[in-house]
Amino acid sequence: MQENGVLGTVISTQDGPTTQSFSFVISSRSVRKGQFVKVKSEPGAGVAIGSVSEITRANRYFERAEAVAEYERSSPMTENFPTADWEYVVANVKVHGVFEEGRIARSSFPVAPGSRVHLAEDELLKRFLQLDDSGLELGTLQHHHLPVRVSMSKLLEKHLAILAMSGSGKSYLTSVMIEELLDRKLSDGRIAIVVLDSHGEYIGFRQTQYGSSTEVIDAKKLKIAFRRVSPQALREWSPEISAAQIRELAPVMERLKAEKKEKGEPYALQDLILRAEQEIEKENVRRPLVAWLSELSKLKIFSASDQPKLEQAVLPGKLVVVDLSSIENAKKKQILVSYICKRLFKLRKAGKVPPFLLVVEEAHNFAPEKMEKESALAKGPIITMAREGRKFGACLCLISQRPVHLSTTALAQCNTNIILRITNPFDIKHVGESCEGIDSGMLDSITTLRVGEALLVGEAVSSPIFVQIRRRKSEFPSRGKDLAQLAKAFEESMERKKQDIEAFL
Ligand SMILES: Nc1ncnc2c1ncn2[C@@H]1O[C@H](COP(=O)(O)OP(=O)(O)OP(=O)(O)O)[C@@H](O)[C@H]1O
Ligand SMILES: [Mg+2]
Repeated sequence: MQENGVLGTVISTQDGPTTQSFSFVISSRSVRKGQFVKVKSEPGAGVAIGSVSEITRANRYFERAEAVAEYERSSPMTENFPTADWEYVVANVKVHGVFEEGRIARSSFPVAPGSRVHLAEDELLKRFLQLDDSGLELGTLQHHHLPVRVSMSKLLEKHLAILAMSGSGKSYLTSVMIEELLDRKLSDGRIAIVVLDSHGEYIGFRQTQYGSSTEVIDAKKLKIAFRRVSPQALREWSPEISAAQIRELAPVMERLKAEKKEKGEPYALQDLILRAEQEIEKENVRRPLVAWLSELSKLKIFSASDQPKLEQAVLPGKLVVVDLSSIENAKKKQILVSYICKRLFKLRKAGKVPPFLLVVEEAHNFAPEKMEKESALAKGPIITMAREGRKFGACLCLISQRPVHLSTTALAQCNTNIILRITNPFDIKHVGESCEGIDSGMLDSITTLRVGEALLVGEAVSSPIFVQIRRRKSEFPSRGKDLAQLAKAFEESMERKKQDIEAFL
């Protein structure tokens, strides 16, 4: 008689069992690729936990091609032979570790051939994967019913990267994570969330049950206090200006700043332009500097004070969505993102804002790997936060559909990665190289993931797992309409106009 919950029996093969892997012949049809299983071989040896990496079906009757071809010419072999009795299925398992008296250890001795293989139960997996009851519920473990609740600290503390091709559910997953963060109680520890929303995908939060916790800032109305801009920052934002020119400008800026501070007066970029015209004597320095500062002032992003003040908007348990979708000018967008990163980090270091998560959509545009300096003005501040943010509770979530183009320095600082479907071979290769803990089998699986299925790997869980991302609690229509809808809307509006004209005539 079969034991309850037994999936199969460990077999001895040419390649194993080893400390890393083993195979078992299955006795239950419920075995699935990716499922977690456990084996207890010897008393006192602990429980080996692994996941099914591949399943093979075999049948002696169908091993020799010429024999099968010959027999099948007259009638199907299944009618004349007891073929079904000779079919067997072998599952390969990758061992993730050994669970011993509540502790996870590395596997240092193979499981014994002949041992029974069981399905790993939820409670064991929860402890093995180091899930957290008061963590963020992102979804359920694939092939199990276990809710995947990951510790907020482990997931975000050392930064998170969400990588996947377009339309695979990155923003959806991020919204799920935001809901979880907004639902946290004071006793669980609440952080602030700031989203740099390139396409206006998060502004819908305003119309949901999270409306009262959401503030949307239209980036068009954002203003940077010019007194907070250093000569160094100006140089970063306009790489075309030379170090020598900045050296001439810096003392002018310092004097203006000191003077205005003494008088208690605000000042703007326009004041600096006037001063530069008056005080810089060398014409070959003055002319380009003034021209360049005037160019900068056309962006209309500098003012006497910050608007709105980030320290007033960034609050525990609240979401701030910076809607960048209305800004066409790429340079303006870059400068705003650069300033927000710098300012937030500074405020955090000074303890003026709570620990926060900064979500950067389209991160490859702001922190690109290879790009002229002009199109990567925000790269420096993002990398600084990635490197140093951890100590201060300044967490980054970088989202990208082109991991290949994302700064490897920034990506390397993201200790947890969530990967959804990716099919581009260059991106797959890059993900394989940059994320620790992903093997070739998992890389293959990434290409076949469906929308809403994700691989969670890194600091947040003790072993990589596939997660079915949960449904959102706050469904709101995303801004994007599909092509057919757009085409219909266009024709309908044309028709309305035509009718209006006819009525008028
Ligand atoms: N877990 C999920 N459950 C149900 N539907 C989902 C899930 N994830 C994504 N979707 C659906 O798939 C679509 C695409 O998702 P989403 O907008 O998040 O993709 P994306 O990766 O952010 O794409 P892009 O790179 O273009 O911004 C959405 O319409 C969303 O409703
Ligand atoms: Mg998106």
